[in-house]
Amino acid sequence: MSDFDTGAALPTKSEDFVMAVAFADVPQGGVLAVEVDGVEIALVRDGDDVYAIRDECSHAAIPLSEGDVEGCEIECWLHGSRFDVRTGAVLNLPATEPVQTYPTKLEGDAVLVDLSMHRS
Ligand code: FES
Repeated sequence: MSDFDTGAALPTKSEDFVMAVAFADVPQGGVLAVEVDGVEIALVRDGDDVYAIRDECSHAAIPLSEGDVEGCEIECWLHGSRFDVRTGAVLNLPATEPVQTYPTKLEGDAVLVDLSMHRS
């Protein structure tokens, strides 16, 4: 079965995945801040792929969603650390710790996020 099953009503849960937003709401080449089950997430779209990263810089409590996106990298506006939204890896100082990322998938028009590792 395809993850891109179209025509069905938007699901609210699928296994550990929870509906976050409609795919069309995530700007191409940009970032969208959302709260899903009490978790602040920055959703970044690169083409047909959407990545979910915790919306907090590991250097200080600054929302990454207020920074700039370039491809699969998001830059914290305060001191300029960049993070790979696919892995959460920090790419430059001053931050030294990665940021939590979450698996995503598309179902119909919906972006679903798996927050199970956030709860564990
Ligand atoms: S708060 Fe993000 S790099 Fe310093």
